[in-house]
Amino acid sequence: MTLRSTPILGLCLLAILFVSSYLAAIPVSAQKPGADKPAADNKPDDAAVERARKTVRILDEVYKNAVVLITDKYVNTEDDFAAGSAVVLLFENVSKTGNQHVRLLDVTGEPYEPDNVAKDAFEKEAVKKIKGGATFIDEVVKKDNGQYELRAMTNVPVVMKKCILCHDHYADAEKKGQNIGAISYRILIE
Ligand code: HEC
Repeated sequence: MTLRSTPILGLCLLAILFVSSYLAAIPVSAQKPGADKPAADNKPDDAAVERARKTVRILDEVYKNAVVLITDKYVNTEDDFAAGSAVVLLFENVSKTGNQHVRLLDVTGEPYEPDNVAKDAFEKEAVKKIKGGATFIDEVVKKDNGQYELRAMTNVPVVMKKCILCHDHYADAEKKGQNIGAISYRILIE
C-alpha cells in the first residue's frame, strides 16, 4: 500500500462508519418493509393441503369398504346390526382421538337418525353439492387457535340393493344412481 492511497482508504472507512451508524439508528422495522407487521401467518402450503386431501381419500377408502363388507357378510335382515350404526359408532370413537373428526350424514332429507345431518355452514353447502352429484368437496379453514384444518366431504351412493332393506326411500335413488349420504371429515393440516 502506498502512502498516497492511505487518505483515500481512510475516507472510505469513515464513509462506511458513517453510513453504518446512520443505518443502525434507524429501527429495523423501517429498514425492512413489512417487518413491523404481526408474525407471519402459518398458512399451510399447497403440498401440505394435498397431503391432507390424500389422508382423507385413504380414510374414505377404508370406511366405505368396511360398510360394504359388513353389509355384505353380516347384515341379512332389518333386525341385524346395521353397518350404518357400526360406522356411526366407529366415527364417534375415532373422533375422540382428535386426529380426525368424521361423521356419516344423510343428504336425502329423510335421515334414519335426526342427528345424522349437516350441521354447520360448510356441511350444509357441501351436502347441496353432494346432492347435485359431487363426489369430493373440500375447504381449508383456520381454527380459533390459529391452526389450519381441511374440511372435506365425500359422497355415499346406494352401493348395494341391501341398503334398501332398511332405507326404503333409497330405492328411487338407486335407480337414478344418486347420492343418498355423505361422509364429513375434519383433519389437521400438518
Ligand atoms: C339393517 C338395516 C340397515 C341397512 C341394511 C343399512 N342401513 Fe344405513 N342406517 C341404518 C341405521 C339404523 C342408521 C342410523 C345409525 C345411527 O345413527 O346410529 C343408518 C344410517 C345410515 C346413514 C346416515 C344417515 C341416516 O339416515 O341416519 C347413511 C348415509 C346410511 N345409513 C347409508 C346406508 C348404505 C349406503 C347402506 C348399504 C350399504 C345402508 N345404509 C344399509 C340401518 C341400515
